Amino acid sequence: MTVWDVAVIGAGAAGMMAAATAGQRGAKTILLDHADQPGKKILISGGGRCNFTNLKADWTHYRSENPRFCRSALARYRPRDFLSLVEKHRIRWHEKEDGQLFCDESARQIVTMLEDECRAGGVQFQLGCSLSDIRHDGHVFTLDTSWGGVQARSVILATGGLSIPKLGATDFTLKMARQFGLRVVPPAPALVPFLLEEPWPDLAGVSLQVTASLVGRKKPVFTGGMVFTHRGVSGPAILQISSWWEGNEAVRLNLLPGQDAHEVMRTVCHQRPKAHAPALLEALPSRLVRVLIAGKLDDRPLAEQPGKAIRALAAEVNDWVLKPVGTEGYLKAEVMRGGVDTRDLSSQTMEARTVPGLYMVGEAVDVTGWLGGYNFQWAWASGVAAGQSA
Ligand code: FDA
Repeated sequence: MTVWDVAVIGAGAAGMMAAATAGQRGAKTILLDHADQPGKKILISGGGRCNFTNLKADWTHYRSENPRFCRSALARYRPRDFLSLVEKHRIRWHEKEDGQLFCDESARQIVTMLEDECRAGGVQFQLGCSLSDIRHDGHVFTLDTSWGGVQARSVILATGGLSIPKLGATDFTLKMARQFGLRVVPPAPALVPFLLEEPWPDLAGVSLQVTASLVGRKKPVFTGGMVFTHRGVSGPAILQISSWWEGNEAVRLNLLPGQDAHEVMRTVCHQRPKAHAPALLEALPSRLVRVLIAGKLDDRPLAEQPGKAIRALAAEVNDWVLKPVGTEGYLKAEVMRGGVDTRDLSSQTMEARTVPGLYMVGEAVDVTGWLGGYNFQWAWASGVAAGQSA
């Protein structure tokens, strides 16, 4: 039986990057995936245009039990390095906002680029290949697969997270990590919309800019869009804060970021005393304003409204507290948080500390990026770190 230098499991973002890196170093590399095509999550990412990196990516943009773990890999393979690769393949790109880089045309170009890089390293693809187990005899790993046994000196596990089960997400890396004695930080959906308790006023489709944080915590704080859904709330600021939500905290929203709502309202009352309550919040969507003023202010002109009621409304606008009852779960989550405990991995190489030759990369590791290209940058950087070492 052929003994491969490196077997990579999972032909997604991190796995293809790891395989290409190992192959181009001269390692005889095989890349296995149970899907019939590589990079399915890349194909649907960024609305089909793949937000492939973020120019600002550094360790401060990730959640982990061990926040500095990702620092080394991210510092050694930077957003500019991936951008150079994109440019080498003549893929046109643009910056949308806040350092987020997207393909001008299609996410397919990123998958094709990674396939080409793997080919340049002589990587053998084995798609449609299910794995049931991995064993290690102290020298060589044996992989039990639907294509038969595969032997390799090093194995890189890159099967990603649990989000979007219909794309074939599995917990294979977590299962193997536990089997080889590594710890796992409990996984949970992240970058995921919240559900609100019924009955909730029908605000579906209403969108606005907010600042979102969690009650009882100073950090993190995210400013960005929010949109009401039929069942709760979503949008960038909500998805970001969801990655820190532990399941019972309330979410604090400032509906007028950077403005003192009471000052705004006092100015309106002074300038337009005959106007009615909705005039106080003209910067906000009218459907939301109706919900906010209900039960606080009545139909009288502003000059006749009690100051106490206006102060209460202003306080709520700057500090609106929502109590989610749950999230949309892995069906809608962009990523999984938690995963292989980084205390059991080398931050330089992604190799398991107690199992030489076994590596874990990408989303399956307890490193979860912010929204905006950070998760792919982690996939590329951790894949390169493992591919250089395996
Ligand atoms: P990935 O999920 O990419 O790859 C895992 C691979 O392992 C898959 O090919 C899968 O088939 C295979 N696999 C799983 N189980 C297996 C098993 N048991 N046996 C064999 N193979 C197995 N991020 C970002 O930075 N910018 C963006 O624009 C987006 N957009 C986005 C949109 C949507 C809808 C989602 C769901 C996610 C994103 N993301 C994102 C997140 C990003 O897609 C994600 O973090 C990376 O793809 C993770 O890369 P990995 O290689 O770790 O897993």
